[in-house]
Amino acid sequence: MNFKNEVAKLISELDNNLDRKEIMSLIEVPPSYEMGDYAFPCFKLAKVFRKAPNLIAEDIVCKIGENDYFDKIESKGPYVNFFIDRTIFTETVLKEIKNKKENYGSSDIGKEKTVIVEYSSPNIAKPFHIGHIRTTIIGHALYRIYSFLGYDTVAINHLGDYGTQFGKLIVAYKKWGDRTTVEKDPINELLKLYVKFHEEAEKEVNLDDEARRWFKKLEDGDEEAFELWKWMRDISLREFNKVYDMLGIEFDSFTGESFYSDKMPKVVEDLQDKGLLIKSQGADIVDLEPFNMPPALIRKSDGSTLYITRDIAAAIYRKEHYDFYKNIYVVGSEQNLHFKQWRKIIDLMGYDWADDCIHVTFGMVSLEDGTLSTRKGKVVFLEDVFKKAVEKTRDIIEERNPNLENKEEVAKQVGIGAIVFQELFNGRIKDYTFSWDKTLSFEGETGPYVQYAHARANSLLEKGNFLVEDEIDYSLLKRDEEIDIIRLLYDFPNVIIDSAEKNEPSFITRHIAEIAKSFNRFYHNCPILNEEESLRKSRLHLVYATKLVINTGLSLLGIEAPNKM
Ligand code: ARG
Repeated sequence: MNFKNEVAKLISELDNNLDRKEIMSLIEVPPSYEMGDYAFPCFKLAKVFRKAPNLIAEDIVCKIGENDYFDKIESKGPYVNFFIDRTIFTETVLKEIKNKKENYGSSDIGKEKTVIVEYSSPNIAKPFHIGHIRTTIIGHALYRIYSFLGYDTVAINHLGDYGTQFGKLIVAYKKWGDRTTVEKDPINELLKLYVKFHEEAEKEVNLDDEARRWFKKLEDGDEEAFELWKWMRDISLREFNKVYDMLGIEFDSFTGESFYSDKMPKVVEDLQDKGLLIKSQGADIVDLEPFNMPPALIRKSDGSTLYITRDIAAAIYRKEHYDFYKNIYVVGSEQNLHFKQWRKIIDLMGYDWADDCIHVTFGMVSLEDGTLSTRKGKVVFLEDVFKKAVEKTRDIIEERNPNLENKEEVAKQVGIGAIVFQELFNGRIKDYTFSWDKTLSFEGETGPYVQYAHARANSLLEKGNFLVEDEIDYSLLKRDEEIDIIRLLYDFPNVIIDSAEKNEPSFITRHIAEIAKSFNRFYHNCPILNEEESLRKSRLHLVYATKLVINTGLSLLGIEAPNKM
């Protein structure tokens, strides 16, 4: 049930000249509920009816007369204000939640449309570090949100598994590496080898040539090169998967950069045929000066292709393979220029789906002590961040609720959930500073706070022997504390749609934080278990709906909701 729609219907049915969609777009939500739930401004109709807006407003009120959904419809100057009947509102919302349960808020607007969400995409043989936290968490949330809205969703991990650095790694490994040592601690050992390569290459000029030769061999399908590369990729993925497992993340595809290596010649040819390539010092570039951007290097003079070339190939491949409705890239703002150039090139190539390729950008994370991801050489591994969160949460639980069953499981759900929640709380564009205390606090707008509201709701339902089938007198839920929650629950489906439209999971994060806050206010001000039967049942029903919606909201963000904590 959509009450705003109902308002639009009532007004548009008054006159043939009125278009329901347009009326819909004019309806406002007044600044305070004393002024109604919806307001319709009559300024635009003044032209149609050649009448002053305030007179039109009066007319509308008169013509609509009595209505089931709204117990008051009044004109206030040029506005018509609509007041939803509270009992009907409550009944509508709570019944819908009861019927749809964990599907409340889901939809089929995405039916038969494919949305690709590319996210995380770390680089092989390099640390999976705090710099990747946002793409991983935001991407996963978007993936879940789009799926919930009925889209066919494809999660792609565009691994950085190709490029000249693999030549270097192969040379370094063959010269100084040892299989068992690397197997034991793959990322750190490969990183060491990579660093050593650069140190040695300063002294020994041949090393770079040797690396180039090995990369060429890899490109040409040389068996030894391929085996080594594949081994490095496998052991790296094993490390990355530890983090994905902790977060409950799965990908539909790991088609990384290497996947496109054999698709490169065609892209270069395509660019050539379309007259977009020009020679510059032996290399092939696309001139983007007319668009105020530096040129894009497509192919080096030695014939090797680049990151952007692979991204062009990937987009074309994805269009052919998935026929996407949207192709989303969750990548940090440091790559804004790359994605602007890339999209311009796809556009220049004449692909009309260029606009369906969306770079979902986000600001940087810095750590409290001022160290910025990897810049200062201090690498903070993602795995360690999550492990630390779980450890700290274990201590907090030990203090707050030492008798809790399956403490370990809950520590994981709360610790990891806390980080995910924090990452998704702020609008994604802003840079932000990660703070342990803030993240793990049970107060304020945090994951643990919302999870705790959920657990509290659960315990009320258990203690109150709640039964979904119980008959409810909806008219009993008329306190402001109750209506506040019901309004938020009612808005939830729209918040999900908005968050997908703007690719902004934070809308959901903030909304469920609001629900948790309202719920706690309700809990403190309105007695539940000690009330007489009918009121107790009604309130428990509200608790039930709240619990369900918080659970769904958390789940959309990729956060679990323990029943006890
Ligand atoms: N591997 C890159 C990095 O870690 C991110 C890849 C982003 N995705 C893309 N299609 N370019 O910085």
